[in-house]
Amino acid sequence: MVIKKNLSLQTYNTFGLPAKAANLIKINSEVQLKATLKLPYQPIFILGGGSNMLLTKDVAGLVLKNEIRGISVIRKNKETVALKIGGGENWHTFILWCIKQGYGGVENLSLIPGTVGASPIQNIGAYGVELKDVFLKLDAIEIATGKKRTFTKEDCLFGYRDSVFKKTLKGQYFITAVYLQLTHRAHQLNMDYGAIKKILEERKIKRPTIKAISDAVIHIRATKLPDPADLGNSGSFFKNPEISRQQFEQLQKRFPAIVFYDLPNNQVKVPAGWLIEQCGWKGKRVGNTGAHAKQALVLVNYGAATGQEIEALAYQIVDSVYKRFGIRLTPEVNII
Ligand code: EPU
Repeated sequence: MVIKKNLSLQTYNTFGLPAKAANLIKINSEVQLKATLKLPYQPIFILGGGSNMLLTKDVAGLVLKNEIRGISVIRKNKETVALKIGGGENWHTFILWCIKQGYGGVENLSLIPGTVGASPIQNIGAYGVELKDVFLKLDAIEIATGKKRTFTKEDCLFGYRDSVFKKTLKGQYFITAVYLQLTHRAHQLNMDYGAIKKILEERKIKRPTIKAISDAVIHIRATKLPDPADLGNSGSFFKNPEISRQQFEQLQKRFPAIVFYDLPNNQVKVPAGWLIEQCGWKGKRVGNTGAHAKQALVLVNYGAATGQEIEALAYQIVDSVYKRFGIRLTPEVNII
């Protein structure tokens, strides 16, 4: 077992932040993981693709990098296929594999950075689809005991960019495998999202395939969201806030152009990107950081930023949005 010491995590997080790990071990099997958990290191920190975290300091103890690979078909029925995917598989590489096999259900989630093992933690979602829509179960190892546990969909308590692994069980389980149910025929395509429709029309595609949808999503993301390889970022930095209808109606009187989506239970969702843009942050640079010029919800590292600088910018944005709209934004990324 190779233990890397005092290792820079710069290439291990998509913000490209230079925090260090006191110790890091790459995990490629459950057996190796169980043996590693017997070593006397504390605390233990689990790393996937590093695409949803802001490292504001060095990481003490032991970092476990999930590199458990493998994709297998565990069941195939008339229309559906159940897959077991190693937690360390790259999410987008997995999607491309699905498209090649003709497996549908995850094409709207193309180009999301990160690993398969991290996908349930924040119930990744984009363009009208969330992980929970195709999720069957997952296998995980409890860090404190080394015991294996299977979590059903109900156990995961999925919500909007949320699960039990962000709440009561935060940091307590290492996700070794995720099981998804996809379709191999009679795909249920999700094209409600305006930008997808527009691209399919432009491309004169009348009967879209899962590949056509994946290509459209890749195109939208590539034009709006910065590629972490060029400009460090962690996707959406904040969640889209959900407010009461009453609060929304008050706001709409003051800001008639406010963008919104109705939710059940008398709630309204307002895009954080719109709120941030209204406060003048879109494309604004503060030292080595800033809010992206094409999508204000994405905070970026212009190269030499520290995690603390990005955190400071995030708090300035939270304050200004609160002062103007009375809405307190909450981070979507994990601040470490
Ligand atoms: N908007 C602005 N200014 C901006 C950005 C957005 O006015 O700078 C407004 C526009 O009106 C736009 C609306 O906000 O129509 C929504 O923007 P967009 O379609 O880009 O989606 P989003 O709500 O900002 C969410 C997810 C993304 C996901 C997209 C597409 C969250 C926190 N973010 O962003 O997920 O790709 O929808 O489904 O829910 C991520 O989680 O990291 C992520 C990128």
